[in-house]
Amino acid sequence: MGSPVVLGIESSCDETGAGLVRDGRLLGRALASSMAEHARFGGVVPEIAARAHVHALTPVVRGALADAGLRTADIGAVAVTTGPGLSSALQVGLAGAKGLAYALGVPLYGVHHLAGHVAADTLEHGPLPDPCVVLIVSGGHTSLLLVRDLVRDPITHLGDTLDDAAGECFDKVARVFGLPYPGGPAIDRTAREGDPRAVPFPRPLTTGAPANRFTFSFSGLKTAGARWAEAHRAAGRPLPLADGAASLQEAIADVLTRKAVAACAEHDVRTLVVVGGVAANSRVRSLAEERCSAAGITLRVPPLRLCTDNGAMIAAVGDLLVRAGAEPAPLDVSIDPSAPL
Ligand code: KG4
Ligand code: ZN
Repeated sequence: MGSPVVLGIESSCDETGAGLVRDGRLLGRALASSMAEHARFGGVVPEIAARAHVHALTPVVRGALADAGLRTADIGAVAVTTGPGLSSALQVGLAGAKGLAYALGVPLYGVHHLAGHVAADTLEHGPLPDPCVVLIVSGGHTSLLLVRDLVRDPITHLGDTLDDAAGECFDKVARVFGLPYPGGPAIDRTAREGDPRAVPFPRPLTTGAPANRFTFSFSGLKTAGARWAEAHRAAGRPLPLADGAASLQEAIADVLTRKAVAACAEHDVRTLVVVGGVAANSRVRSLAEERCSAAGITLRVPPLRLCTDNGAMIAAVGDLLVRAGAEPAPLDVSIDPSAPL
């Protein structure tokens, strides 16, 4: 008997995801998103997201099973995101996961959303080397982590953001630029035609106190982006959008990759893993490749579909937990919307 098929369920924000993993191998996946329903509000509305999860959860689980050519009875364990995330959204995934685990008589595992982002890469590139530095960049998080064994050892936070996450900076500046939501992909597309050196946006916390070496701050950059757009509008000048987008993207990519490579050097780590929604950014990817290759560091970035929120990444952690012999969660486990890693 091999290890069981693990169903992973993700519902912490606006994507409803299900994935099936066994022995580190992705067997099937499905995803639904309520992103379009939030667009006119310029950000995720928790009530709308939760209702969309109720609507999508069962079809998405069924979709992942169909993708894998498996039946409900083949599920040997259920893993679900318990936090961090929007509480009403998390509740839907957890309730569904509990119902399935109870009905099937299989163990339930609570998974930290960020551990899921880290594990996503194992589905593409195999087990993570011990140790590795992980840069998690999403709409809610910007953290540099020192990871040993993901499910056995504690994760060391080398640095976090003092204020906004990198994805939030992309999203908020895109909004001021008049670009559609979500802003990150829109800035990425708009930047293609622009000059990244056109606007000298700041590189926050890249000089000065050594205490800030691995700490991020994006609120100043967000304000700088907004001021730049307002100054053009106030002067009645057309906004050179492509240049603004390219320059903002360059500043974010520069700060993220500079600190990530410095963290590898400081801790004598040879592998950098970049995960989370912002890892989908084309300039973050290309600059990370350039700098890692110059420093002799192996760069691992999961493919786009595994970078943004999905159920497969939660199944990946569940599979590691099962194989490590971890204790399952009780069926009265609660969500933890602001879970620390
Ligand atoms: O990981 P994720 O799907 O959800 C969170 O857990 O936050 O990340 C979403 C974030 C959003 O801020 C979105 O704008 C950003 O990832 N993002 C991008 C790109 N694709 C998604 N940011 C920059 N460039 C992209 N291509
Ligand atoms: Zn995420």
